[in-house]
Amino acid sequence: MQPLQLSRMRYNEKLPISSLGIALVMLMSLAAITSSCTEQEKASLLKFLTGLSQDGGLAASWRNGTDCCTWEGITCSMDGTVTDVSLASKGLQGYISPTVGSLAGLLRLNLSNNMLSSGLPQELVSSGSIIAIDISFNRLDGELHEMPSSTPVRPLKVLNISSNLFAGQFPSSTWGAMKDLVALNASNNSFTGQLPTHFCTSFPSLVVLELSYNRFRGSIPPELGSCSMLRVLKVGHNNLSGTLPDELFNATSLEFLSFPRSGLQGILEDTYIAKLTFLVTLDLGENNFSGKIPEFIGHLKRLEELYLNSNIMYGELPSTLANCTNLITINLNCNNFSGQLTKVNFSSLPNLMSLDLMRNNFDGTIPESIYSCRKLIALRLSSNKFHGQLAKGLGNLKSLSFLSLYNNNLTNITDALQILGSSKNLSTLLIGRNFRHETMPEDDTIGSFENIRFLGISDCPLFGKIPFWISKIANLEILILSNNQLTGSIPAWIKALSYVFYLDISNNSLTGEIPTTLTDMPMLESAKTDANSNQRVFILPVYPTLSHQYRQPFAFPKLLDLSNNKFTGEIPSTIGQLKSLRSLNLSFNNLTGQIPESTCNLTSLQVLDLSNNNLTGAIPAALDSLHFLAAFNVSDNDLEGPIPSGGQFNTFGTSSFDGNTKLCGSMLIHKCGSAEAPPVNVLTTKQTDYKVAFVIAFSTFFGVGVLYDQIVLSRYFG
Ligand SMILES: *[C@@H]1O[C@H](CO)[C@@H](O)[C@H](O)[C@H]1NC(C)=O
Ligand SMILES: *[C@@H]1O[C@H](CO)[C@@H](O)[C@H](O)[C@H]1NC(C)=O
Ligand SMILES: *[C@@H]1O[C@H](CO)[C@@H](O)[C@H](O)[C@H]1NC(C)=O
Ligand SMILES: *[C@@H]1O[C@H](CO)[C@@H](O)[C@H](O)[C@H]1NC(C)=O
Ligand SMILES: *[C@@H]1O[C@H](CO)[C@@H](O)[C@H](O)[C@H]1NC(C)=O
Ligand SMILES: *[C@@H]1O[C@H](CO)[C@@H](O)[C@H](O)[C@H]1NC(C)=O
Ligand SMILES: *[C@@H]1O[C@H](CO)[C@@H](O)[C@H](O)[C@H]1NC(C)=O
Ligand SMILES: *[C@@H]1O[C@H](CO)[C@@H](O)[C@H](O)[C@H]1NC(C)=O
Ligand SMILES: *[C@@H]1O[C@H](CO)[C@@H](O)[C@H](O)[C@H]1NC(C)=O
Ligand SMILES: *[C@@H]1O[C@H](CO)[C@@H](O)[C@H](O)[C@H]1NC(C)=O
Ligand SMILES: *[C@@H]1O[C@H](CO)[C@@H](O)[C@H](O)[C@H]1NC(C)=O
Ligand SMILES: *[C@@H]1O[C@H](CO)[C@@H](O)[C@H](O)[C@H]1NC(C)=O
Repeated sequence: MQPLQLSRMRYNEKLPISSLGIALVMLMSLAAITSSCTEQEKASLLKFLTGLSQDGGLAASWRNGTDCCTWEGITCSMDGTVTDVSLASKGLQGYISPTVGSLAGLLRLNLSNNMLSSGLPQELVSSGSIIAIDISFNRLDGELHEMPSSTPVRPLKVLNISSNLFAGQFPSSTWGAMKDLVALNASNNSFTGQLPTHFCTSFPSLVVLELSYNRFRGSIPPELGSCSMLRVLKVGHNNLSGTLPDELFNATSLEFLSFPRSGLQGILEDTYIAKLTFLVTLDLGENNFSGKIPEFIGHLKRLEELYLNSNIMYGELPSTLANCTNLITINLNCNNFSGQLTKVNFSSLPNLMSLDLMRNNFDGTIPESIYSCRKLIALRLSSNKFHGQLAKGLGNLKSLSFLSLYNNNLTNITDALQILGSSKNLSTLLIGRNFRHETMPEDDTIGSFENIRFLGISDCPLFGKIPFWISKIANLEILILSNNQLTGSIPAWIKALSYVFYLDISNNSLTGEIPTTLTDMPMLESAKTDANSNQRVFILPVYPTLSHQYRQPFAFPKLLDLSNNKFTGEIPSTIGQLKSLRSLNLSFNNLTGQIPESTCNLTSLQVLDLSNNNLTGAIPAALDSLHFLAAFNVSDNDLEGPIPSGGQFNTFGTSSFDGNTKLCGSMLIHKCGSAEAPPVNVLTTKQTDYKVAFVIAFSTFFGVGVLYDQIVLSRYFG
C-alpha cells in the first residue's frame, strides 16, 4: 500500500502548481464559474453512456442540455476541461466506448468494480493525456493489443487492469511508448505465455508490477534485475519454473518480493538476499525452495513479513533472524527445519504478532524468549518435537488469541492449563497429542477461559472425566476431546454450553445413557448460528485434515460424535430436536432399542452412523425424507424388516446394512417376501429421479462430497 501512495504522490508533485502562486489560482477559479465543457467532450461522454446497458442512474444527471462538468462522476479543470471520469462501483454494464480516449484533457479514468464487458479500447491506453486508468474488477476480456512502433511517448503512469478476464500473451516491447509507466497491475486475469523480458527497458520508471493469479509460464526473466525503481514485484500463483535469477537481486529498491505458489525452486543465497536491504515482505511460500535460511537474512532490517511456508527447506533457524527487529509475521510451516529454537533471541522481535512453525522437526523446549513478544496474537508450534512444560511466561501474552501446540511431546497438562488461564484473549486453543497418559485436571483453579471458542484436547490419551471447568467456557463453539480415555458419563451441564455446535467426544471410555440434556443443546436444535461466528475468521487457518484448511469457524459442520464409547440404553427420542445437525455418529457403542422415528426430523443430516450397536426393530421408512444424507450406516446391529427404498436410500451400498441378518431389501441377498412386504413406497419414479438428481447437483455445487470426506476424516487439528 505504501508504494502506491508514494506513486500517487509522485504525479501530484508534478502537477503544475505554478510558483506564481495562490493569486493566479484564485483568478483561474473565478474564471471556472463561467467555463463549461465543450460540445465535443459532451458528445464523447454521451457516446460512453450509449454504450452502457446498465448506467446505474447516470442518465439522470448526464443530460445533453447541461454542462457536463456538473455530471455525476465528472471533474473538470478550472478552464472547463474534463480531467476525471470517476465511476467506480456504480453497477455499470455494457462496453467502454473508445470515444472516452478522445477527451483531450482527460487525466484519470476510474471504472473499477463495475460489470463492464468486452475489450479495453486501444484509444484509452494510447491517449495523449491520460495518466491513470483503473478498470480493475470488471468482466473485460480479449487480448491487449500491440501498439504501432511509431506511437509517440504516452503519459500513462498507472494502469490497473486486474481482476478481469483478459487473456493471451502480454504485449511485447511495442508498449515501449509508455516511458512513464509507474504502476502496472494485471493480476487475476488469464494471461499466458512467458513473462515479458522488456518491462524495465520499456518502462524505466516502473515501481509497481503485479502479475499474480495468471497463467504465466517459464522462468523469471533476469532482465527484471534492471528495474532499479521497482519496489513492488508480485507474481505469485502462476505456473512458473526455475529459480529466482541472480540478476533479480540487482533490483535493490525492492520492498515487496512476492512469488507464492508459483512453481519455483532453488536455494536462497546469502550474498544475494543481503542486497535487498529495503525488503519489507519476502513471500516465497508454497514453492519448492530448498536449503537453509541464509545467515544474511539478518541484513534485512526492515523485514516485516517472512513467508517461506510449504517448501522443502531444512536446517536450524539462524540466530541472525533476531536482527530483523521489525518482523511482524513469520510463517515457516510445512518444511523440514530442525534443531532448537533457543538459538534465536525472540526478545529482540518486539513487534512479532504471528509465528507459525507448524509441521517441522524443531525439538528442545519452547524458548522462553518467545514469551517476551508481547504483541503475539497467533502462535502455532504444532507437529514438531517440542518437549517439557510450558513456562509461566506464556501467561504474559495478553493478546494471544490463537495457540496451537498440537502434536508435540509436552508434559503436565494441569500446569499448562493453569498458565494459559492468564492469557485472557485466547479464542482458539489446540493442545492435543501431548501430555501422554496424563489425567485431565478437574482442578477448580482452571476455568477463566472466557474467550475460548475452539478447544481441542484430543489424541493424548488422557484419563479422567469430562471436567467441570469446561462448563464455564461460556463462548465455546467447538469442543474436541476425542481419542482419549475419559470415563464417566456425559455431564448434565453440557447443555449450558449454549454456543457449542461441534461436539466430538468419540473414542473414549464414556459410559451411561445418552442424556436427554444433550438433545437440548441450543445450537444443534435451531438452524440459527451465532451471527458473529458467520463472519469471524480464524487468525490462522486450521486443518481438519492434512490437506484441507478452514478459514472460518462456520466452515465446521454442526456435528455430534459420540462414537467408540461405552454408551448404553436407548437413543433418546428427543434426538429429533437436533434439527440442524449435519453429522450424527453413535457407532461402536452398546445402544439398544429402536432407531427413534424422530430421527426423520433431522432433515439437515449428511452423515448418520448408528453401526455396531445392538439396535433392534425396523429402519424407519420415513428416513427416506433425509434428502441430504450422503452417508448412512446401520451395519452390525440387530435390525429387521425392509430397507426403505426411496430417496437417498437408492444410493447406499449393501455395506451400510451388513451384519443385520433380519433385514431384507432388493439390493440384499435376503429379498423381502410378499408376506412381509414393505409399506408401499409413495414416491413415483419421477420424484425419486428428481431427488437423486437434486442431491447430485447439490453435492456438485456446494461441495457436499468434500464436506462429507471432511466430516468423516476430521482427525487432525494443527
Ligand atoms: C446534444 O445537443 C446538441 C445541440 O443541442 C445536438 O447537436 C446533439 O445532437 C445532442 N446530442 C445528443 C446525443 O442528443
Ligand atoms: C479507483 O477507485 C477505487 C474506489 O474508489 C479506489 O479504490 C482506487 O484506488 C481508484 N484507483 C486509482 C488508480 O486511484
Ligand atoms: C489498481 O492499481 C493501482 C496501482 O497499483 C492502485 O493505485 C489502485 O488502488 C488499484 N485499484 C484498486 C481498486 O485496488
Ligand atoms: C492489484 O489489484 C488487486 C485487485 O485486483 C489488488 O488487490 C492489489 O492490491 C493491487 N496491487 C497493487 C500493488 O496495487
Ligand atoms: C479475482 O477476480 C474475481 C472476479 O472479479 C474476484 O471475485 C476475486 O476475488 C479476485 N481474486 C483475487 C485473488 O483478487
Ligand atoms: C547484476 O547481477 C549480475 C549477477 O548477479 C552481476 O553479474 C551484475 O554485475 C549485476 N549488474 C549490476 C549492474 O549490478
Ligand atoms: C528432514 O530432516 C531430517 C533430519 O533433520 C532427515 O532425517 C529427514 O530425512 C528429512 N526429511 C525430509 C522429508 O527431507
Ligand atoms: C535477547 O535480546 C534482548 C533484547 O534485545 C536482550 O536484552 C537479551 O540480553 C538477549 N538475550 C540473549 C541471551 O542474548
Ligand atoms: C483481545 O481481543 C480483542 C478482539 O478480539 C481486541 O480488541 C483486544 O485488544 C485484545 N486484547 C489485548 C490485550 O490484546
Ligand atoms: C516424549 O518424551 C519422553 C520423555 O520426556 C520420551 O520418553 C518419549 O520417547 C518422547 N516421545 C516422543 C514421541 O518423542
Ligand atoms: C506440574 O507442574 C507443577 C508446577 O510446575 C508442579 O508443581 C508439578 O509437580 C508438575 N507435575 C508433574 C506431574 O510433573
Ligand atoms: C482411539 O484413541 C486411541 C488413543 O486413546 C488411539 O490409539 C486409537 O487409534 C483411536 N482409535 C480410533 C479408531 O481413532
